[in-house]
Formats: sequence, structure tokens, C-alpha cells
Amino acid sequence: MRRHRRGIVGTIILAALAIAAGGEGSVPWPHGAPPTSTELDSLVVDALDLFALERFDEFFEAFEKGEDSEHIHLRQERIDEGVWDKDALFNFGDSLFDHEFRGSDGYGAQPNAKLQRVHDGTRGGLDTFSCVGCHSLGGPDGAGAATQNTFFFGDGDAAASAQVRNPPHVLGLGFIQAVAAEMSAELQGLRDDAIKQATESGEPVTVALVTRGVDYGALTAHQDGGVDSSGIDGIDDDLVVKPFGWKGRFATLRRTIEDAARVHFGIQSHVLALQWMEEQDPALGNGPDWWDPDGDGHQRELEEGILTAGATYLAMLEGPVVIPPHDPQLRDRWAHGSALMDEVGCTDCHRRELLLTSPFWDETPDTTDGPPIRISLLIDGEGPKPSPLVQLYSDLKRHDMGPSLADPHADDGTGVAASVFLTRPLWGLAETPPYLHDGRALTIPEAITMHDGQGADSRDAFLALPESSQADLHIFLLSLTREPKVRVPR
Ligand code: HEC
Ligand code: HEC
Repeated sequence: MRRHRRGIVGTIILAALAIAAGGEGSVPWPHGAPPTSTELDSLVVDALDLFALERFDEFFEAFEKGEDSEHIHLRQERIDEGVWDKDALFNFGDSLFDHEFRGSDGYGAQPNAKLQRVHDGTRGGLDTFSCVGCHSLGGPDGAGAATQNTFFFGDGDAAASAQVRNPPHVLGLGFIQAVAAEMSAELQGLRDDAIKQATESGEPVTVALVTRGVDYGALTAHQDGGVDSSGIDGIDDDLVVKPFGWKGRFATLRRTIEDAARVHFGIQSHVLALQWMEEQDPALGNGPDWWDPDGDGHQRELEEGILTAGATYLAMLEGPVVIPPHDPQLRDRWAHGSALMDEVGCTDCHRRELLLTSPFWDETPDTTDGPPIRISLLIDGEGPKPSPLVQLYSDLKRHDMGPSLADPHADDGTGVAASVFLTRPLWGLAETPPYLHDGRALTIPEAITMHDGQGADSRDAFLALPESSQADLHIFLLSLTREPKVRVPR
């Protein structure tokens, strides 16, 4: 691999900006001492090297067509044989994220590939050519501006028919995936214990579904082993916490990546093609050949190995950070704003932290029975890393946000009502305008004011605060950001 982002972009850079801005030495650096000028020099050189490398890649692709596509073709069987370690997989995943998909990759359903803003039902766009085409705001692997909004599940024509979604940033998702999986396992354990008790005792057993302090309602197990799910709240009846997407659509990164490639680029994973062989889901196309559901003459458009690499890459990325203001007066206001988050009830939903009990994530293939790739979340890949008390500012639970925030329809296959959304993690917030699922809020205070439904009480409590306190809370939220790094923008 020629692309080695890891290790090249330095991690102690935040100090650099303040030095450039004439910051004084007494500033409390959240992530270690400010870099020395020698360290800074080497970071700048590294950033320039990376820039040159990426340019070279582009020239080389023009010189030798198909070279770039080689970086996004990776058979799972080769990974299972142990040919690639997780750092190599990170680089493959990095290439996937940057890759410009074209006809030669199976882009769209040739020969009719055309870009269209509003998706046609479950089939999708085509939206653009690369992941980075939407996830770029505020830096690599960032969020999307309003112009990068996606119009999911529409009629292929009118924006008003679609579920409009603003792209979130994709940092720290390995932690979210792992915490969610631990929470799901706990909830399912509670259910299974209740069923066991009910069948053994011959009496119905009701159990509270609480994990990591998050309350997902209750269920009742009956003596015949059946379950009454009517009291379950904020999660699907399968008790799988699905933390990805504004509505909580996916539990794992590999499924999120697979769906993104399918709907944005018409690039179909080999795993989906194998499923299509069993059951011809029209969201993939009408064949006629099983190995090519969208009938564009390209098979294995997205190898299972690339799902593994993409998920490994995302899981090894840095996490967002909290960078309070340096100015002592503003810092007091920041601390006050942080306390207000609890006082007005924001943290009832935007839970400050969720505990991750195991620091490992096993990225497991779908079809090959190969061994999982074990990722050490706190160590592998790019820094900074969050602590095991992951400060994501979400309960990973869905809430009814009221009719004013509802989608035009609920027709997305999740069965989740139009006004129901997952509590959006707020880490990294400062770099992700516009706000809310469709980007309707231009500023952070506007996003708060637009909370409704189950968020209405908290919104009212915020609005009842004196203006200066509202500003303090805003100051706090602006500290939820990402670590600045030296890079050469393109
Ligand atoms: C056309 C714009 C667009 C493109 C291209 C795109 N995404 Fe996204 N991405 C989005 C939007 C919008 C969402 C929110 C989806 C939802 O709410 O269901 C999203 C969500 C995600 C998420 C979940 C983030 C979270 O915290 O919920 C991941 C991971 C992701 N995208 C990865 C990718 C990858 C990998 C690619 C390339 C294969 C990609 N995206 C291409 C717009 C895009
Ligand atoms: C009932 C749970 C709940 C409460 C209480 C709540 N929120 Fe939210 N918050 C959500 C949900 C759900 C979303 C996503 C809604 C959407 O996109 O339509 C959200 C979205 C946000 C966003 C936009 C995030 C983004 O990336 O665009 C901000 C900012 C925010 N909340 C801040 C706050 C603050 C500050 C408070 C307290 C005044 C608060 N929230 C109280 C559930 C809640």
C-alpha cells in the first residue's frame, strides 16, 4: 500500500494553533504538552508528504488505469489466511473511504447510471462518487454540509417525498459500536433469564430492561416461553441497540458501510449478492444473474474483505475530544454551561458517558467462517482515543421528538415512527453544522429550540434560562470538537 495516513498526521497538534495565535504558556493543554518547534516541523513535513503521496496516487491512476481500484479489492479469504494485519486493513479501509467509484467498479446499474439528488425508494441515488464526497466537513472522516444532505426513500423526484438526512461525522464509531453491542448482550441476557424463570416457575416474569443506566422499558415473559414486548421503549423488539443512522438503523459498521455503498453508489457487496441468490430483494435489482443483481455486468463489486477493512478502518479512527476555551473567564462560563446540561435535563438523553467494559472489538466475517480481526480500541490506529467511559453524549435510545421534527413518511423499512429519532451523540458537535437530522437548524441554539415531543420539557427549561446562561451552555457545546491536526487541504 502506498497510502499511509496512520502515523503520518501527528496527534499533538492542537497546541500548534494556539502557539500560532500567540497563546501563552499557562494554557492547560488537554492532551499533553504543546509540541516543540522541531516536532511541529516534522508534522508539517509529514503532512506535505501525505499530500504528495495522494497526488502521486492520482497521477498514477491516470497513467495506469485500474491501479486505484486494486486498493479496494480484497478477498475475505486472503484476510482469513492472515495475509493482512489490522494496520494493512486500516489502509485498505482508508482507500475505500477516498476511492472515487466509477463504471469500471460497477458504479450504478450501467448503462443507465445517473446522479440524482432524490432517492428512488430503497434503490437509492446515485449521489456522488466517494464516501469522502459527503463525510468531509471539519476534516477527514467528518460530517456533511447542507449541500451534502441525502434524500433517502423518496420518489426519485420531489425533495418533499424523501427522508432528508445530514451526514454525521464518522469519528469514534468503533467505541459506539462496541458499547452498543455490550448493551444489546445485556438486554438479551435479561430477556433470556426472564424466559427461563417463567418457564421453570410457571408464572409470568416481568423484567426492567436497564443497561448502563439506560432504561429501555420492560418486558414480560410467559410460562410458555412467549414474550410480551409492548412495554419495550426506544429500541426494537429484538433488543439490539442500533446506534448508526439518525433513526438508529444499523448495529454494525460493516452493515452501515455496505448500505452506504449500495444506496449512494449502486455498489453491491458480495454478501448482499449471496443473499440475493436466496431471496431476490428488489432493492438490489432484477438480475438476471445471481452474481450481478443490478445487471450491470460487474460481479463482486464490494468484496466481503472490503467490508472487513472498512469496518476496521472506522473502528481504528480517532475519537472526538473536549477542548474547553483557554481564556479563564470563558472557561468558568464553560464549566457553568456543562453543569446546566444536567440542570435542564439535556443529559437525561444526551448521557455524558457510557461505560465500555471490554476494550476489544472482534471484526467477524459474514460468510467465510474465518477468524475475527481483533481490534484493541484504546490502542490501535489513530489517536486521540476516548477513555473506557466513552463520552459520547447519547443514551443510544430512540425518542419521540414530536410532529414538528417528523419525517414526511416512515417508509424506511425500520418500522420506526416518523417522529422518532435516536439521541444523536453530541461529541464532535462543533464541527458538524447544520444540525438535526435534516440539517434544518443552522446553529446549536436553534437545534435546541427545535427539540419537541419528549425533548420539549428540557427545551423549555433551556429557554427559561437567562440569556447569559443559555450562552454558557452554547459555549460548553462548542467545546465538543475534534483534535486539530496539521494537514495540507486539497
Ligand atoms: C451522499 C452522501 C453520503 C455518502 C456518499 C456517504 N455517506 Fe455516510 N452518511 C450519510 C448520511 C446522510 C448519513 C446518515 C444516514 C442515516 O441517518 O440513516 C450517513 C451515515 C453514515 C454512517 C453512520 C454514522 C452515524 O454516526 O450514525 C457511517 C459509518 C457512514 N455514513 C459511512 C459511510 C461510508 C463508509 C461511505 C462510503 C462507502 C459513506 N458513508 C458515503 C451520507 C453519505
Ligand atoms: C428526550 C431526549 C432528548 C433531550 C432531553 C434532549 N435531546 Fe437533544 N436530541 C435528541 C434527539 C433524539 C436528537 C436528534 C433529533 C433530530 O435530529 O431530529 C437530538 C439532537 C440534538 C442536537 C443536534 C445534534 C446534531 O448533530 O445535529 C443538539 C445540539 C442537541 N440535541 C442538544 C440538546 C441540548 C442542549 C439539550 C438540553 C437543553 C437536549 N438536546 C435535550 C434527544 C434529546
